Amino acid sequence: MSDLVRVDNLHKRYRLNKENVHALRGVSLTVRQGEFVAIMGRSGSGKTTLLHLIGGLDLPDSGSITVAGLDIARMSDRQRTLFRRRRVGIVFQAYNLLPTLTAFENVMLPLMVDGQALPEIESRAHELLSLVHLSDREAHQPSALSGGEQQRVAIARSLLNRPDLLLADEPTGNLDPAAAAEIWQLLRNLANEKQTTIVMVTHEAAAAANADRVLVLREGSLVGEIESQGSRDAALVASRYAELAR
Ligand SMILES: Nc1ncnc2c1ncn2[C@@H]1O[C@H](COP(=O)(O)OP(=O)(O)O)[C@@H](O)[C@H]1O
Ligand SMILES: [Mg+2]
Repeated sequence: MSDLVRVDNLHKRYRLNKENVHALRGVSLTVRQGEFVAIMGRSGSGKTTLLHLIGGLDLPDSGSITVAGLDIARMSDRQRTLFRRRRVGIVFQAYNLLPTLTAFENVMLPLMVDGQALPEIESRAHELLSLVHLSDREAHQPSALSGGEQQRVAIARSLLNRPDLLLADEPTGNLDPAAAAEIWQLLRNLANEKQTTIVMVTHEAAAAANADRVLVLREGSLVGEIESQGSRDAALVASRYAELAR
């Protein structure tokens, strides 16, 4: 498998009230095509910052990021906007669905923005809602869906443009264990069956244990790697993580 994501010596600082926060301190990593990687670390370790840089939502101070051979830091703003829209799917802890639209309309939204032909968008949206087991909820507005269902709509929406890369930031942070387990199963199936490349950040061993590989971030540096191989062995990941993140 070839590398889809290459991150080299990434640094990111934030300036806040004259304080300098060094959020990423020389992070390097690769993610192979079709791989499901979790990035695990405590609150404040730099997980969201790293995910945003990989997705082109923000720019690093130094270092390089290439996704599918495209160098994000060298893109114009316009190119980076198109990159985000066409190459990357992103799922957040908050589902970010539009409350007045149905599940189906929420899924269709990104392609309507991109001006693609309607029948094609519609069949793709039906297909994706079926993939996330929500065919019978297409006409529901978000307020009539459970948290887990809303997140599954958000995942379907993120996949509409057939992204090269799916990024997820604490996707199950607001969900009960049963709903979280469904989301993990869904992500695992996407990697296994659709060869979707996934980078998920989390502070939970039970979430990370679904990934092929877990990278551990501590105070802005990667301090180690756990080969979880989709084992779902949360106890193993938790104990290795406790050693690495100490
Ligand atoms: N926009 C920002 N301005 C100032 N500091 C920030 C900003 N975003 C994140 N930080 C700081 O950078 C560090 C890493 O944050 P973040 O990447 O959000 O960590 P995590 O997602 O692991 O909780 C933290 O110390 C956080 O307070
Ligand atoms: Mg975060």
